[in-house]
Amino acid sequence: MTTVPAPLTLAVHTLGRDRRRRMAEDVRRALGGEPPELPCRYLYDERGSRLFDEITHLPEYYLTRAEREILEAEADRIVGVARPTSIVELGAGSCEKTRLLLAAGRRGGGLRYFVPFDISETALWKAVWPLVEEFQGLCVYGLVGDFDDDLHRIPRLGRQLVLFLGSTIGNFDEVERVSFLRRLRTIMTGGDHLLLGVDLVKDAGLLRAAYDDVSGVTAEFNRNLLLVLNRELGADFAPEAFEHVARVDGRRQRVEMFLRSGRDQVVRIPGADLEVRLRAGDMIRTEISAKFTRASVAEMLREAGLALRAWFTDERQRFALALAAPRQG
Ligand code: TRP
Repeated sequence: MTTVPAPLTLAVHTLGRDRRRRMAEDVRRALGGEPPELPCRYLYDERGSRLFDEITHLPEYYLTRAEREILEAEADRIVGVARPTSIVELGAGSCEKTRLLLAAGRRGGGLRYFVPFDISETALWKAVWPLVEEFQGLCVYGLVGDFDDDLHRIPRLGRQLVLFLGSTIGNFDEVERVSFLRRLRTIMTGGDHLLLGVDLVKDAGLLRAAYDDVSGVTAEFNRNLLLVLNRELGADFAPEAFEHVARVDGRRQRVEMFLRSGRDQVVRIPGADLEVRLRAGDMIRTEISAKFTRASVAEMLREAGLALRAWFTDERQRFALALAAPRQG
């Protein structure tokens, strides 16, 4: 008997995990640090994901458009080099840009599986459903999981092209970036490829605008983190008492996002057993977004046991896609 693979499968690995306890631990550790931080992974609840989607459509936020421009021009070439049987996407979100690669893979003939991996079950379910209709004969195996715990659950379905787009790699610090790529390297074998989206070093004014738009969507997105903590940990943050701040650190080539306390205040977070005293002007860092050069990407990949094989940029050199493969030896 031959088995026909189901066209659509969704595996939820986060079920039953004690999300709240982990959040409490994360928040306690981050707020207790110097400087105080809040973990960026909690920016993306349902409202946060919607706001982020809005960000990607803002006139100031060039990243998504630039990345799409590259994929429109180069998807066939990328697929031609990687010749994937399966495309794995980390942090798949809406799968919007991925369609270009799926279409190229189908045209090229060899692509049979798409494995989107995301932390949000709702977002993933919404995104994968239409794909089955759109790409007849493509098997979609969606995975709901966490980068920290579940990478090894990605099924190996022939030669892989792993996507990590949107410059999400820039939201890790220098050390985490390499250790994440090293872990990714362990699920890759010879013949597999990684396609990494990276935002490039550029003029500070353009960066500031992209992370502090005039319509205030990014500010709303940043403050949404406080609403998540109010809901999940019973905190009493007053979001209007915090101001969104985006700073460009030219020396470290990155943007940093903060929430600045507008007054002296005490915030209680019972779910994390925490009381936080803030003075007017105190800053809580919520996110970093590192910017790259071809050389810094090549070096980061090298440290992770990968080699840069091809480099594609948009016409204005704002953004790049790096195609990498495991380094021999
Ligand atoms: N990966 C996105 C980036 O670094 C995430 C992002 C965009 C973001 N805008 C933001 C994170 C504003 C926090 C606040 O560009």
